Amino acid sequence: MVFDISFWSRSINKFLKNKVFCGVGRSKMGHLAHKCLLFLFLMTSTVFILSWFFVLKSSSPYSVDFSILPNTNLLSIDTNRYSRTCDSNQILKVFMYNLPPEFHFRLLGWKGNGKSVWPDIHVELPEYPGGLNLQHSIEYWLTLDLLKSEFDKDLRGRSAIRVYNSSEADVIFVPFFSSISYNRYMRKRPEQKKSVNELLQESLVKFLTAQKEWKRSGGKDHIIVAHHPNSLLDARTKLWPAMFILADFGRYPPTIANVEKDVIAPYRHVVSNYVDDSSDFDSRSILLYFQGAIYRKAGGTVRQELYYMLKEEKDVHFSFGSVQKDGITRASQGMQNSKFCLNIAGDTPSSNRLFDAIVSHCVPVIISDEIELPYEDVLDYSQFCIFVSTPNALKENFLLNLLRNISKEEWTRMWNRLKEVEKFYEFQYPSQENDAVQMIWQAISRKVPSIKMKVNRARRFSRTGLPEESGLSTAPLPRNFG
Ligand SMILES: *[C@@H]1O[C@H](CO)[C@@H](O)[C@H](O)[C@H]1NC(C)=O
Ligand SMILES: *[C@@H]1O[C@H](CO)[C@@H](O)[C@H](O)[C@H]1NC(C)=O
Repeated sequence: MVFDISFWSRSINKFLKNKVFCGVGRSKMGHLAHKCLLFLFLMTSTVFILSWFFVLKSSSPYSVDFSILPNTNLLSIDTNRYSRTCDSNQILKVFMYNLPPEFHFRLLGWKGNGKSVWPDIHVELPEYPGGLNLQHSIEYWLTLDLLKSEFDKDLRGRSAIRVYNSSEADVIFVPFFSSISYNRYMRKRPEQKKSVNELLQESLVKFLTAQKEWKRSGGKDHIIVAHHPNSLLDARTKLWPAMFILADFGRYPPTIANVEKDVIAPYRHVVSNYVDDSSDFDSRSILLYFQGAIYRKAGGTVRQELYYMLKEEKDVHFSFGSVQKDGITRASQGMQNSKFCLNIAGDTPSSNRLFDAIVSHCVPVIISDEIELPYEDVLDYSQFCIFVSTPNALKENFLLNLLRNISKEEWTRMWNRLKEVEKFYEFQYPSQENDAVQMIWQAISRKVPSIKMKVNRARRFSRTGLPEESGLSTAPLPRNFG
């Protein structure tokens, strides 16, 4: 569905136009004909070389890297065009396992009636525990959306529906609420050998690997949400053939998770949206805002260095301290009153701060070389974020010179763009067109062709068995699952 031919048709159109032009140019016919031939030759060789490139690329274990496809213009979020490319006949079909409630809603405290696996969402909507837990609540919103798709007659704005026959599904969704399982149940009581979080992961691996759906694909078409960086810590090394929904790859070896196979989801922002934002460049009195923890582990030392560089500046707010209850309100006011908001790598490359900045319409300044961003295959972040490499950020005066030099017009352009993209980061129930839930389903959809290819390739030898001393030397992955 993403393999759009518009780039090629555009190129071919250009080529044809050129050709026509060549035909008309009578007076210099010989010269131009020569030029045409040369052009034709170049064109053919380019296509030839490109096709080789794709062939080589696709023979790597993680097939197609969408980012190299020439389609970025097409999908860069011009919403109307965008929704047309994902219209109703391309809705993602999702089969969801009926996992017992202890893997999902019971972790939120839902009691249920002992009969039904799922809450009847018409009658009761179990709440996700609030506070900072919410930033990783992605699992909850995706599951609710699938449950709701059962009752939706109107498919407008919907990017995924639940199907009950797994043979008809594009992907298989695993409704394990891994982030809340980590946040709430990672500690073990003295008399226990293992925490609930560990036990759940063990049962999950046992359950999944016994399913016919898993065996059919080796897990490659399974979707597992593990948004908290420490969630699924044990099971990830066993379930890695699946597609993970993650915050970043900071705590994953590239064989277990990577940008080709997996999907990056935004954090749910913790500050509230800036509704009816009538601020402007001049009314936002703080140039640069940062609030966060100091003395973080590896990768976080840049925070300290920046602090010493910026602390004397009058129009910079730079302070440390974790965000507590009234802290969230103060952070929200601070961001809404600032032109730029700093996002510095902490002990992981990503944080909810970026999404807090976006919904505060405070232009994010990202200093995190390893960060991965949601939907970046269709969204150009340079239109509303400023990226600064860590070495540059640590050069004397580099950052402030850069920011002070950004004109009111340029800033206002980014601010307007922030207001346009804000909805892509909104988790809500019921979900709405192109909000975070739908954007994540769409990101999954864009990976379906490459999943299908991987599954099909893995079936090549299913009839006759693999050659002795397996010739499949192309798989640099742990082969703990078939
Ligand atoms: C599930 O779908 C497959 C493929 O369309 C079909 O052959 C099969 O009969 C379906 N199973 C049920 C129980 O409907
Ligand atoms: C500010 O921008 C202008 C033009 O974009 C550039 O020539 C100048 O060197 C910049 N100044 C600083 C301090 O970065």
